[in-house]
Amino acid sequence: MNAALRGAARVGASLGFELVGVEEGYVGLLEGRVRPIDLRSVDDAARRGGTLLGSARSKVFPPPEGQRRARETLAAKDIRALVVIGGNGSLAGARALADAVAVAGLPASIDNDLACTSMSIGVDTALNTIVEACDRIADTASAHRRTFFIEVMGRDCGYLAMTSAIASGADAVLVPEAERDESEIVEGVARAMEAAYARDSGKRRVLVVKAEGVRIDAATLKERIDVRVAKTLPDVDTRVTVLGHVVRGGTPTGFDRLLGARLGNAAVRALAEGEQSFMAGWVGPGITRAACKFDPYVVLTPLDEVLEETGRLMRGESALARWRRKIVEEIEPILAR
Ligand code: F6P
Repeated sequence: MNAALRGAARVGASLGFELVGVEEGYVGLLEGRVRPIDLRSVDDAARRGGTLLGSARSKVFPPPEGQRRARETLAAKDIRALVVIGGNGSLAGARALADAVAVAGLPASIDNDLACTSMSIGVDTALNTIVEACDRIADTASAHRRTFFIEVMGRDCGYLAMTSAIASGADAVLVPEAERDESEIVEGVARAMEAAYARDSGKRRVLVVKAEGVRIDAATLKERIDVRVAKTLPDVDTRVTVLGHVVRGGTPTGFDRLLGARLGNAAVRALAEGEQSFMAGWVGPGITRAACKFDPYVVLTPLDEVLEETGRLMRGESALARWRRKIVEEIEPILAR
């Protein structure tokens, strides 16, 4: 997010805008906490995770009273355009203010659960963090002939679990898109473990990556698996690692820095040319909108459309959601070979 802030701020300054930062997202906007942006400090921050401005999950916004106070701040500070960096909730907040000010959304969420962008800011860094963690865990797993259940964040989306499982060479992956009940999950994992050790007598480790959105907690999964494989795999030890907030933050990858910078650049240029209520997204499969004139990899989609399509994605109704479900079917036998 800092890289996006830097990109937007530097491009804005070069176009002659006066730039201010809102502290702690909508909470700061309600409270009028707005301060000038110092380009030197955003340069420095762009190499770091988190956000220089701070962030907050506001419970006050977007109900009408919160929106009224946000509008008061915008008017009092003479703010003409707002760049909102965040996920679904942040973009919904941006749309709510679109009648008061021009708004540009920049998709930022490690969950990669936003539509109209193939990648959100933060996803690549989170993926690399998980893969590094899996590689480390695999060393212990191999040394002790263990099966590890590794839970990764992603809210209700299995993207991070699926991609990290492929990238780290896991033996099985559990994602909410598969829509399996607890017994099916336990049986599927037990069979994957039995098959893995049967296929390869020298096999020393099994990694199972589980998305947090799968409705069985990792400890329960371990307990049930231990019971299920007690006779078939008596020598195999199991362990659980819940990566939790370790997946967030940290030094952003080069790709994430560039993604933030390029989305920020296109968003500010579009605002300068009078665009009103949109999200700047990264082009990719299934995104049919033409690229914007500022960057051939960036598409500008009206916020209404982004939020509607994101809702369809989250409910599993969009073409991308269907494709992700299909991938679950395809990937299982491939990982289990
Ligand atoms: O949406 C990003 C995310 O990190 C999810 O993956 C996770 O479920 C949630 O936020 C954690 O939220 P919090 O930091 O409020 O506990």
